[in-house]
Amino acid sequence: MFSLSAWRLLVCLFCCFLILEAHCHDPKIETYIVYMGNHHPKEMHVAELHHMSMVRRVIGRNFAPQALLHSYKKSFNAFAVRLTQDQAERMAEMDGVISVFQSKTHKPQTTRSWDFIGFPQQVNRSSLESDVIVGVIDFGIWPESDSFNDHGFSSPPKKWKGSCQNITCNNKIIGAKYFRVDGLFGEDDIRSPRDTDGHGTHCASTAAGNWVNSANLYGMGKGAARGGVPSARIAIYKPCWSSGCQTADILAAFDEAISDGVDILSVSLGSRSVVYPDLFEDEFAIGAFHAMKKGILTSIAANNLGPDLSSMTSFAPWTLSVAASTIDRKFSTKVQLGNGMVFEGVSINTFDLQNKTYPLIYSGDAPNITGGFNSSRSRLCGENSLDEAKVKGKIVLCDSFPNDPAALSGAAGFLLPAISNKDTASLFRFPLPFAVLTLTDGTSIRSYLNSTSNPTVAIYKTNEGKDSLAPYVASFSSRGPNMITPNILKPDIAAPGVDIIAAWPPITPISKVQGDKRLSKFNIISGTSMACPHATAAAAYVKSFHPTWSPAAIKSALMTSATPMSPALNPEAEFAYGAGQINPLKAVAPGLVYDISESDYVRFLCGQGYNTTSIRSITDEAVNCKKTENETVWDLNLPSFALKRNISQSFTSVFHRTVTNVGAAKSVYKANVIVPPSLLTIQVTPSVLSFSAVGEKKSFTVTVEGTINVGIVSASLIWDGADSQVKSPIVVYSSAQ
Ligand SMILES: *[C@@H]1O[C@H](CO)[C@@H](O)[C@H](O)[C@H]1NC(C)=O
Ligand SMILES: *[C@@H]1O[C@H](CO)[C@@H](O)[C@H](O)[C@H]1NC(C)=O
Ligand SMILES: *[C@@H]1O[C@H](CO)[C@@H](O)[C@H](O)[C@H]1NC(C)=O
Ligand SMILES: *[C@@H]1O[C@H](CO)[C@@H](O)[C@H](O)[C@H]1NC(C)=O
Ligand SMILES: *[C@@H]1O[C@H](CO)[C@@H](O)[C@H](O)[C@H]1NC(C)=O
Ligand SMILES: *[C@@H]1O[C@H](CO)[C@@H](O)[C@H](O)[C@H]1NC(C)=O
Ligand SMILES: *[C@@H]1O[C@H](CO)[C@@H](O)[C@H](O)[C@H]1NC(C)=O
Ligand SMILES: *[C@@H]1O[C@H](CO)[C@@H](O)[C@H](O)[C@H]1NC(C)=O
Ligand SMILES: *[C@@H]1O[C@H](CO)[C@@H](O)[C@H](O)[C@H]1NC(C)=O
Repeated sequence: MFSLSAWRLLVCLFCCFLILEAHCHDPKIETYIVYMGNHHPKEMHVAELHHMSMVRRVIGRNFAPQALLHSYKKSFNAFAVRLTQDQAERMAEMDGVISVFQSKTHKPQTTRSWDFIGFPQQVNRSSLESDVIVGVIDFGIWPESDSFNDHGFSSPPKKWKGSCQNITCNNKIIGAKYFRVDGLFGEDDIRSPRDTDGHGTHCASTAAGNWVNSANLYGMGKGAARGGVPSARIAIYKPCWSSGCQTADILAAFDEAISDGVDILSVSLGSRSVVYPDLFEDEFAIGAFHAMKKGILTSIAANNLGPDLSSMTSFAPWTLSVAASTIDRKFSTKVQLGNGMVFEGVSINTFDLQNKTYPLIYSGDAPNITGGFNSSRSRLCGENSLDEAKVKGKIVLCDSFPNDPAALSGAAGFLLPAISNKDTASLFRFPLPFAVLTLTDGTSIRSYLNSTSNPTVAIYKTNEGKDSLAPYVASFSSRGPNMITPNILKPDIAAPGVDIIAAWPPITPISKVQGDKRLSKFNIISGTSMACPHATAAAAYVKSFHPTWSPAAIKSALMTSATPMSPALNPEAEFAYGAGQINPLKAVAPGLVYDISESDYVRFLCGQGYNTTSIRSITDEAVNCKKTENETVWDLNLPSFALKRNISQSFTSVFHRTVTNVGAAKSVYKANVIVPPSLLTIQVTPSVLSFSAVGEKKSFTVTVEGTINVGIVSASLIWDGADSQVKSPIVVYSSAQ
């Protein structure tokens, strides 16, 4: 009882601080988003008044105007408001409200990469590339970075309506705004779109940074750094701060970016844990839906919660969800024991110890006894736990990651045997020489320690090697299946996201470890966050050749032209890599596209059982949900096919699809189905499509029949034409997944 009321008191004090005294009696006031669908241009000027009156009606007597944090009114109709749970429930019942959901705090997910995927510097480029505006929703940007100088750029495209807050726009960065609707900035936050985190600068330069020679991180990853569409313009929207990125601010960023007129949106953000939000309660799905209505494709990171199945957090069929794959450059850190044994360590170790050997000690053998620490504490290398006299000048073998270099009490470096998967060096950075090893390596080192009275070790500077297995999907990358719409494949595609070098603010240390003072204009980081801007750039590249293509057509072009990836390296197959690795050059000439209009998505939402009234308020199309066969999820015209079926039960399922000819006017495509024998039969009708005009559409059905007795069966449909192979993944999986 005591702890509960003490806690209540604290919460109360906290809420008083947030929004004055008005709700002091109420223990739990949170920021909610009230989503109401389309905005009506005519009512834009009264939106805020309307929102205010709704809030007044729900809060009643204690209403304070500050409770209404923000009215979204440029691209959609919604508001952010401080409410109790009761009030939120009442709000959800008011006229015109589609959904009410709590604002959450999200996290960011980090160039050889372009060459590796077959997209060299000297590719054909459209003269319209400089008209493409890439919007990046992230931590902001470091405008003075060489990646963003505007030498040779003409003035922004005429259609552009954006502007820059605080920083001066140039002809490269043509928009920059920040969002913090509750006004609660942290101590370290600069109220400006300027990036002091690094993540935003890295993502923006990967998507559309200039070509910069001699990029490197302390000599590593040397080479030119470049964005995928170096002539494109950049517009920055910053909803992310030292405390994370909040729903209310992310929606404000979408609202603004859509109305400013960006062409593609890049969103390298996602929830901190595995969640399956309803499409109408997911700011990313809502923002991207309104973007889609304006012809803007949203590329979004799959999240970094892999390798477990069902660890994806982005499900909307109108977004491009991007998984992170490896490239053939691999960083490794050599560790050599005094007895000659060598281990391949994993880390980004910028320190060059000149290959010198140091005495080696196990942290469990060096407890700070006077400080009250025993061996089982000191083995974790926590603060004060090590005896400085014993570890100073030595390399320490730790059993856990020290969160502060000072915890190592003057050690020369450390080793951490902790991992089973070595795919991502740049996850491990520390302001001291160090390497991460496998647990097996750790056992070998422990027995070496036992075998000699004078153990020594050398940690080498990180070396750049080759990974001949690449590409495969990184272990951290989130996997499908799709938990919101099981019969839609997610992720959509994979792009490089492992150990990517790109621009970095020169004032921001290269790791987040306390006490790190290393600075660099480039940094090497990993994440689906880094994969997302690669896919964004590929989409922008396609858009520069086909400015009128819909978001779905661009996504289709990217997916059907993707380079296949190997299920041998990723047993989760399509749930790891979707259609495969992006291939921008091929995506420009896909032959056929699977297009999807707003009304198709509306029918899909009908089929998913969403409330007709709600659907009506997000679209200008006529809505009359009637549960016809065309409203089944299998008929949404996606370039991928997914089917969830019970194990050992036979089934027959039919997909309807329509392709649009965007290749040669006269062309013929033959259906080629690749299916593992004996499990399934897949029939395509008709099996030949003959086109006589560009823009002509042809429909066909794909009938999948059989029984599955394993978790996942991968097949594919290839429309085989003279100039293009239009490939779609077909995945049948069981509920046992
Ligand atoms: C570039 O475009 C030209 C003409 O459109 C074409 O002949 C050439 O093959 C293209 N080059 C590449 C590398 O795609
Ligand atoms: C940026 O501009 C806003 C308002 O125009 C101001 O409140 C803020 O302090 C400025 N930030 C900086 C870093 O100058
Ligand atoms: C350290 O060893 C590497 C090979 O592992 C070698 O290339 C390098 O020159 C050595 N450095 C010094 C300072 O001896
Ligand atoms: C041991 O721990 C104490 C307190 O926890 C700390 O003050 C002291 O500096 C530590 N000693 C060494 C040698 O690290
Ligand atoms: C080590 O210390 C912790 C508390 O500081 C204690 O819980 C634990 O039992 C001790 N372990 C040994 C082996 O003495
Ligand atoms: C090393 O010796 C310690 C105690 O002397 C023992 O607990 C440990 O199992 C030994 N480790 C190996 C890998 O031989
Ligand atoms: C749809 O939602 C509205 C508003 O929340 C509600 O009034 C209506 O009853 C719902 N309709 C159905 C069919 O559930
Ligand atoms: C479903 O769509 C097909 C074409 O894709 C059309 O021929 C058919 O009439 C539609 N059926 C219904 C019930 O709307
Ligand atoms: C799978 O089996 C469950 C329970 O036996 C059943 O409720 C469900 O409808 C089945 N699903 C399919 C797709 O057949």
